[in-house]
Amino acid sequence: QEDPATVTDTTIASPAARADAARHGRPFPQDFLFGAATAAFQIEGAAFDGGRTASIWDAFCRVPGAVVNADNGDVACDHYHRMPADVALMKGLGLQTYRFSTSWSRVRPDGGPVNPAGVDFYSRLVDELLGAGIKPWLTLYHWDLPQALEERGGWANRDTAFLFRDYALTMHDALGDRVDVWTTLNEPWCSSFLSYTAGAHAPGRQSKADGLAAAHHLMLGHGLAVEALRSRAGSGSGSGMRSGSRPALELGITLNLTVAKPVDPARPGDVDAARRIDAQFNRVFLDPIFRGAYPADLVADLDAAGLGSTLESVVHDGDLAVISTPIDTLGVNYYHGELVSDRPAADPLPAQAPTSRPTSSPFPAADDVFNHPQGLPLTAMDWEVQPVGLTELLRRVHDEYTDAPGVKLYVTENGAAYDDVVEADGSVADVARAEFLVDHLGAILDAIDGGVPVHGYFYWSLMDNFEWAWGYDKRFGLVRVDYDTQERTVKQSGHTYARVIAARALPS
Ligand code: NOJ
Repeated sequence: QEDPATVTDTTIASPAARADAARHGRPFPQDFLFGAATAAFQIEGAAFDGGRTASIWDAFCRVPGAVVNADNGDVACDHYHRMPADVALMKGLGLQTYRFSTSWSRVRPDGGPVNPAGVDFYSRLVDELLGAGIKPWLTLYHWDLPQALEERGGWANRDTAFLFRDYALTMHDALGDRVDVWTTLNEPWCSSFLSYTAGAHAPGRQSKADGLAAAHHLMLGHGLAVEALRSRAGSGSGSGMRSGSRPALELGITLNLTVAKPVDPARPGDVDAARRIDAQFNRVFLDPIFRGAYPADLVADLDAAGLGSTLESVVHDGDLAVISTPIDTLGVNYYHGELVSDRPAADPLPAQAPTSRPTSSPFPAADDVFNHPQGLPLTAMDWEVQPVGLTELLRRVHDEYTDAPGVKLYVTENGAAYDDVVEADGSVADVARAEFLVDHLGAILDAIDGGVPVHGYFYWSLMDNFEWAWGYDKRFGLVRVDYDTQERTVKQSGHTYARVIAARALPS
């Protein structure tokens, strides 16, 4: 007679367990790039060294209640002073590429003339990376607008888009001979709607009209920068072409996209909630970039919300042609899945607002959209862990946007915050983060096996850092940072990633 336990183990293994077994040792394509990401304000510190002046985040950190524990970026991970050792750490992990951002306030303080000391820091960083055999992946804007420009209207002012283009050219003057991947913006949804409409991020404004204007001007700045960088390189569109001694340019943008499913696919209110989230999170950026138009349903919703005239006044003739200037790469940032309805959940997910400061809905025309829990495991951000969402997202973006123009897809951010525990010997056994990493890499392999070419992955983040309105409270790093001593310790997740990179395969 068969032992029932054996029967259960071998013949009725859950789909998840079978998928897990199939995951062991799965190899990555030869040209797949493994990397990690950071951003200037979150790690550099040295906020007022070397000629740098305040950004909107330096100012926002000083608004009472805006950031947990009133944390700020004055010291952060002190990366500005520890950069060579941090690059050595990356080399030790075996990273092939490193995604970092440059600080506009360091390079052109107050948005004004070029500051040679600021430029020099990034020049040294790039040299250090190249010396370590690590490909630099540069992001021009990761949320830290010079405060002086905010005082002139910030991203709600059209002029900011043109100043952004000038700043992009400054960076290209300095680094264009050594950096070939240029990302214009990181997550413009956050630097517009979350910042100018919800008020949860710097500059903390709460205006639907300003959020919309900011989103359009960010898109315009993106298009202007792509146009200018492309003509600088004299290469026309498309990667692989060279002009003189400059490397071929790979130009792109990074978007935080979501997979919003209706709670009940048969209930029109839920389906429409999912549509509106898709419109105001994903398509509001994807459509202008890839199709040269804002989505018709979004425009209708904005009209109904009384924002039609705002949109009309900010979108000038010719803007959409600039915004849809061809790009080479699209970076997708993915953290969690979402289940939505126009009705509140009986058992809502924990509130996501970190501070005592009241914030409002970021959506200009979808105030009545509610997230419902799916019963999935939560990270310390209370984000639901759903790797399959990444597979679905990559497939959708490929099929609907990037495949036809031949734009290369990368996962430019994915990661998890957990409340790490430091053992007596100083080690950090962050098993949940290591599993999160492996499961999401598996989700990317699922997309690749399904015919979606994904060219690389950046874990967020290389090290613990300033998590915006959450301050230093939330830790996403592969490397622990002790903020008292600035000591770095590679966590178990970092060791796991290093093994994956060395083997170019998931763990067996
Ligand atoms: C997205 C942002 O680009 C990054 O700055 C942030 O720290 C992570 N998500 C985690 O929230």
